[in-house]
This record gives sequence, structure tokens and C-alpha cells, in this order.
Amino acid sequence: MEEQADELRALMQEDYVQTGSEGSAGSDASEGVVKSPQVKKNHNTRIIAITSGKGGVGKTNFAVNMAIAYAQLGKKVILIDGDLGMANVNVLLNIVPQYNMMHVINKKKTMKEIVMDTEFGIKFIAGANGFSKIANLSVDELDYFATQFASLGNADIIIIDTGAGIANNVLQFVAAADEVFVVTTPEPTAITDAYGIIKIITTEIVDHTVDIKLIVNRVHSADEGKRISERIITIVGQFLGYKVEYLGFVYEDPVVQASVIRQKPFIVVNPTSKPAVCLKHIVGKIEKMEPEYNEGVSSFIKKFLGKKNKY
Ligand SMILES: Nc1ncnc2c1ncn2[C@@H]1O[C@H](COP(=O)(O)OP(=O)(O)OP(=O)(O)O)[C@@H](O)[C@H]1O
Ligand SMILES: [Mg+2]
Repeated sequence: MEEQADELRALMQEDYVQTGSEGSAGSDASEGVVKSPQVKKNHNTRIIAITSGKGGVGKTNFAVNMAIAYAQLGKKVILIDGDLGMANVNVLLNIVPQYNMMHVINKKKTMKEIVMDTEFGIKFIAGANGFSKIANLSVDELDYFATQFASLGNADIIIIDTGAGIANNVLQFVAAADEVFVVTTPEPTAITDAYGIIKIITTEIVDHTVDIKLIVNRVHSADEGKRISERIITIVGQFLGYKVEYLGFVYEDPVVQASVIRQKPFIVVNPTSKPAVCLKHIVGKIEKMEPEYNEGVSSFIKKFLGKKNKY
């Protein structure tokens, strides 16, 4: 316990670097986590939360296909289902998770034991109903969770698919991520709610800056995406004094629904479809951007646990 507290303190001070099993993004911290500033010091895992104001705008499809597109570039990707109410990622990937994050929180499993390999080259971690319980964990339990989460630091990118809005503790994930992608559609209600969630993020999270990027899903033309993003960006700048960046659009296309029904991501089944090409374009763009606040898993944990009493 004493030792774990020391580890946690160290975690807050410097990057925790995982040794052993190279290539395994979700390795067990207990296998040999060492505090070694020399090893891969500059390797910071990029942590991106995908969120929206309105529900059903396409977050989960975006997160899943983006994760796979990223893995296709040869990156180590972990996709976390942070949708605590309705876990959906596993449905799109057609996998049945045996364990989830709650098993780690309850110290029943290590992170390595709950990380699932998928046939699509990404690793997957199932979320947990009742994740909000984290607010009530003891210091010892928090230490364990933080140490376990640190073992994910081997990944190049962690993508967290969250639920919509603020009602379900998603803000905790959003607040802790380096980058937040807000997904909207051209629907007026989705646009209003996108503004709403951006307002909440920018006003509630006061202790650090979050890099917010916008995605317009289900558009019929590139112009439509641009026009909608400009509207949101202008209003956010005007009323919140915050700069949001437009990341890109995804076309409305029946291939998305068909892939949901088949439980096979469209980026795999229909790699040349319009939405797949959009996704690849967006991933290419993300890859070229140096994230402004890429502070890796240790920072994520610090911010995540730091928020535990707030939400
Ligand atoms: N680009 C698209 N073209 C056509 N249909 C789409 C597109 N994106 C999403 N959809 C449709 O919207 C549905 C909902 O998508 P998804 O589950 O990804 O949304 P979500 O934002 O994650 O929802 P929730 O808020 O419930 O988590 C999909 O099943 C699909 O039918
Ligand atoms: Mg979803």
C-alpha cells in the first residue's frame, strides 16, 4: 500500500514507462512497470475522447472506424468504451467482453486481463456501468487503478468513445483527455447541442485547457460540413472566447448502417466507400497534427482522478 502510494506519486511527476512485452499495448503493470525517464521518454500516448451533445450522431461508428484506420497506419491503438450507460463498441466489433473496467476498479483483474485483442488490429477495453463509483474509491483502490491504467502507456493512441451529453459522467473522460473530438450532424438540434457540450467543457474544465476539434457527420457535401463547422466555430469564438478547430466531415452513406447490421466496421468491409475515405482522410490529418496538450497517460490519470469529486 505504502509502495503503491509512492508509485502513484511518481506517476504524477514523470512519465511511467512500461518495459517488457513490446508491442502489447495493454500489458500488465505488475509485470514490470519501471520509472525510467530514459526509456521512450518522448513516447506520449495520445488520448482522444469522442463525444457529442446530442445522442445518436455517430460517435461510436466514428470511434471504431477511426481506431481501425489508425491501426492500419501501423500504430498501437486501444479503443475504450467509455459509454457507461449503453456500451456499444463491442456490438459494432461483434465481440462479447467477459470483463470490463469495473473489474480493474474493483481490483478483481489487471488491465492486461481485460484488454481484448480484436481481429481488426486494435485492442479494446470494455467500459463499465457504475464507473462513476470511482468517486467513492479508497486511496488504495485509486492507486491500483492508476497504476493499472499507466500500463496502457505503451499504446500510441487511446481512443475513448463516450456517451452523449453530460448526464452520464462522460465529462470525467473528456476532462482527462488531451484532445476532445465533438461529433455533430447537420441537424439543428445536433448543432445546438454541440455548442452546448463545448460550452460545458470550456466552462467546467477550468484547471487545464482542452484541445477541442469538430467533426460533422452525415453530410451530403464537403461544403455542408464546412458551413456547419464555421457556424459552430464562430459562435464558440464569439460567446465562449474559445478556439475550436474543424477536423473534417463524414458523408451520409447507407454503408454505415449496413456495417452496423453486419457488425463489421465499414473501414474494413468497404474501405473505398465515401465514409471510409473520409475517415482515412481525418486520421491522416490527425497524424500530421502535433497535439497541443499531449501529456500521456500519467497526465490523464492525474486529471481523471482529480475530477473524481466534481462529477
Ligand atoms: N455517416 C453516416 N451515414 C449514415 N448513417 C450513419 C452515419 N453515421 C451514423 N449513422 C447512423 O446513426 C446510427 C447511430 O450511430 P452511432 O451509434 O455511432 O451514434 P452515437 O453517437 O454513438 O450514439 P449514442 O449517443 O447512442 O452513443 C448508426 O447506427 C447509423 O445507422
Ligand atoms: Mg455511441
